[in-house]
Amino acid sequence: MTNPAVIRDLQGKVALVTGATSGIGRAVAVQLAAQGATVVVHGRDAARGAAVVTEIEDAGGSARFVSADLSEPAEALRLANEAGEVDILVNNAGVPWFGPTEKLDAETLDQLFAANVQAPYLLVTVLGPKMVERGSGVIINMASRAGTIGQPDSSAYGATKAALASFARSWASEYAPGGVRVNSVSPGPVYTGAANRELFDVSGSTTTLLGRAAEPSEIAELVGYLTSPRGSYITSADIAIDGGRPPARPDSGRSALLTP
Ligand SMILES: NC(=O)c1ccc[n+]([C@@H]2O[C@H](COP(=O)([O-])OP(=O)(O)OC[C@H]3O[C@@H](n4cnc5c(N)ncnc54)[C@H](OP(=O)(O)O)[C@@H]3O)[C@@H](O)[C@H]2O)c1
Repeated sequence: MTNPAVIRDLQGKVALVTGATSGIGRAVAVQLAAQGATVVVHGRDAARGAAVVTEIEDAGGSARFVSADLSEPAEALRLANEAGEVDILVNNAGVPWFGPTEKLDAETLDQLFAANVQAPYLLVTVLGPKMVERGSGVIINMASRAGTIGQPDSSAYGATKAALASFARSWASEYAPGGVRVNSVSPGPVYTGAANRELFDVSGSTTTLLGRAAEPSEIAELVGYLTSPRGSYITSADIAIDGGRPPARPDSGRSALLTP
């Protein structure tokens, strides 16, 4: 790898990063590969998956792509089995949905919970016990600031993210005797394909103390730290990486308050 600032402390490890074909997941896959991990790049879009694998290989790293639609339970289980022996699981894939509560129909609600909550759970049913068997492992759940604050138009999405933070606390407790650490990460607004850049500009300037949205690489740095031995004493934590929360501003526009 070309970046001398990256510590190669994940050599010999295999990392499965879900939703690694774009946005935060892509940056996490590149980061973990730079730290020496062999990365299983997951997503649905094979072309973007191949591009991430190429990016990692061109930088001297190792990766392969596995496709699976995580809204299907059978696909989540297939992914877990195809990934093989996994030392690091990053449950990053997720879908946002924003709008008034009464506008979200039952089918879409089910899909939201299937991809954001059920799939990470199913992946851990397969990969968690294997980590315990080996006596080590790290799981990171990509939660969100939306899971801890009440903001308009995100009741269901926020609940899926709160579930991921809760899963992390429970799994940390369940798997600690087996040498497995589990944490969640809760970003604020991050420039990704989830919305256009201008919307993130507004969200970043109105909902963070730092006055800006994050770049995906800033979230990836934290995941790289948590998954490495440098994070060896951190488990059962939900770590906010959200630019700081300003005091509530009653004059803020409704849409400007949204954080994916
Ligand atoms: N962006 C933010 O501001 C922000 C803030 C807080 C938390 N988050 C969380 O961070 C995570 C990544 O978000 P992002 O903004 O980076 O999103 P993104 O750029 O839209 O990427 C989403 C990724 O998830 C995959 N994915 C979505 N639905 C899937 C499904 N049903 N089956 C399989 N893969 C699926 C996509 O794969 P394909 O495109 O290949 O289908 C893609 O790789 C999400 O969990 C999100 O909730 C984001």
